[in-house]
Amino acid sequence: MKKEKVARIEERIRSVFDQQYQIIKMLGNGGMGCVFHVQSNSVEIADFALKVLDKEVYIENKLDFMREADVMKSLDHPGIPKIMAVTEDLDYVYMVQEYIRGEPLSLVIRKCGQIREEYLQIWMESMAETLDYLHQQGLIHRDIKPDNMMLTDDCEIKIIDFGLARKKEQIDQADKKVFGTLSFTAPERFTKKVGTVQTDIYGFGVTMYYVATGKKPENMKTSPQESYAIMEKKLGETAPPEIREILTKAMAVKPQQRYRSFEALRGDLAHQNLVRNAEFEDRQVQFSHMFLILATLFLIGLISAY
Ligand SMILES: Nc1ncnc2c1ncn2[C@@H]1O[C@H](COP(=O)(O)OP(=O)(O)O)[C@@H](O)[C@H]1O
Ligand SMILES: [Mg+2]
Repeated sequence: MKKEKVARIEERIRSVFDQQYQIIKMLGNGGMGCVFHVQSNSVEIADFALKVLDKEVYIENKLDFMREADVMKSLDHPGIPKIMAVTEDLDYVYMVQEYIRGEPLSLVIRKCGQIREEYLQIWMESMAETLDYLHQQGLIHRDIKPDNMMLTDDCEIKIIDFGLARKKEQIDQADKKVFGTLSFTAPERFTKKVGTVQTDIYGFGVTMYYVATGKKPENMKTSPQESYAIMEKKLGETAPPEIREILTKAMAVKPQQRYRSFEALRGDLAHQNLVRNAEFEDRQVQFSHMFLILATLFLIGLISAY
């Protein structure tokens, strides 16, 4: 978006909200609009994220500019920012949201590379739980990727950007169009399929592949089976087997080979956790047995020395 346009939007924000917010900085600037960090000027200073959507772009693409706000209003989950207010003028829609103090996961990985296993496990559980909630509300996000995940300063994962989210039954022809980053797009979306629960499961799989390996997922547009094989190999070299098993199933080329639901995926995650904890406890028991034997031998040695 051009500088002059951003300046115009900033001016609009000041007048639409009657100087209620001070603009701190621009956080994002995409094709459909932009996002600002703002602070309210009332007695108690509070931070918000203000997302501004350009109605003209939505109309050009035959998309409903109110849908994102409607979707967000219907959600109530700690892994999703709350929407505080929505207003519009002739040209823009303004959405005031809870401000997430943190950084997009994409930036975190660009800075740190591959992420440690403990975090991977925790983030997978938390992200799968939030997406399970979303699907239980009858919604599909359709744009799951590290740019749309925020890592908070408290090390929690939150899901943002419900611009492409749809009620399962409300997906229409305009939704067949593929927007956004090729690396995180599910293979079926390239064949003009609208996207289902399995599309989000794919997004989850490749996002966590990126976290686990520090490598961008392969493009699924031209030869998906080959790309899948490369990713499977890379995961094998870096991720522990139980994580690898879950992610390769989530990223399967054919949607019907992926998990049926996030509930099923969470079941596998919980099971792997149990197995891992049991192994850990086993090792602890073995260690204490070994310690007892050594201590006894030591005592016997001491006694016989006297
Ligand atoms: N609620 C929020 N709190 C903090 N930052 C946010 C929030 N929502 C969006 N952002 C920031 O703005 C950027 C763009 O937001 P997003 O909703 O993904 O817009 P776009 O549709 O342009 O991709 C994000 O990458 C993030 O840095
Ligand atoms: Mg986004």
